[in-house]
Amino acid sequence: MLIRPARPDEAAFLAALAVRSKGHWPYPAAFLARFARTLALTPDVVAANDVNVGERAGEVRGFYTLLHRGVLAVLDDLWLEPAEIGRGSGRLLFEHAVARATAAGGTVLEWEAEPYATGFYERMGGVTDGWTDSPLGRRLPVMRLPLSRGPTFSTV
Ligand SMILES: CC(C)(COP(=O)(O)OP(=O)(O)OC[C@H]1O[C@@H](n2cnc3c(N)ncnc32)[C@H](O)[C@@H]1OP(=O)(O)O)[C@@H](O)C(=O)NCCC(=O)NCCS
Repeated sequence: MLIRPARPDEAAFLAALAVRSKGHWPYPAAFLARFARTLALTPDVVAANDVNVGERAGEVRGFYTLLHRGVLAVLDDLWLEPAEIGRGSGRLLFEHAVARATAAGGTVLEWEAEPYATGFYERMGGVTDGWTDSPLGRRLPVMRLPLSRGPTFSTV
């Protein structure tokens, strides 16, 4: 999978991909429709943020969004096409996000987890550190992962 920055003109495609991806879980259609209305993934948002897509043979198969807030990095999206799920691509995108967050000076990665995906995030080393109310009227786990800068060498 090739991971590259998203283009602003891909915003509508990525928003639709997120809805297809959410539909992998057993949610009723009405819930998915409400979810779709909460997405604010416009070309301006893509242009202003660290959005990266994973593509295979020229086809976008998933993406993530990273918000850099000083030492805190927020993983705001992580979505795969349903047919891409369970093939290791989630790990690839997550590890790419961790590397970018670390390179940007982040010391902690944080995200609000889809409840069905918490097992995946725990496999990635994430730990539930609190709860938050979502716009869809649910309580979502807030998960965190400390970011390590790798070995440091003393110059003394
Ligand atoms: C969450 C998501 C990105 C995971 O991606 P994926 O490609 O299926 O995950 P991977 O195949 O890379 O799995 C990595 C590891 O996590 C495990 N794993 C994956 N999904 C899991 C789950 N739901 N529960 C428990 N473990 C899971 C895998 O077994 C694998 O374990 P291993 O290291 O022992 O091999 C994907 O399921 C998805 O897009 N889901 C729909 C959208 C969604 O919920 N996004 C999250 C929004 S917060």
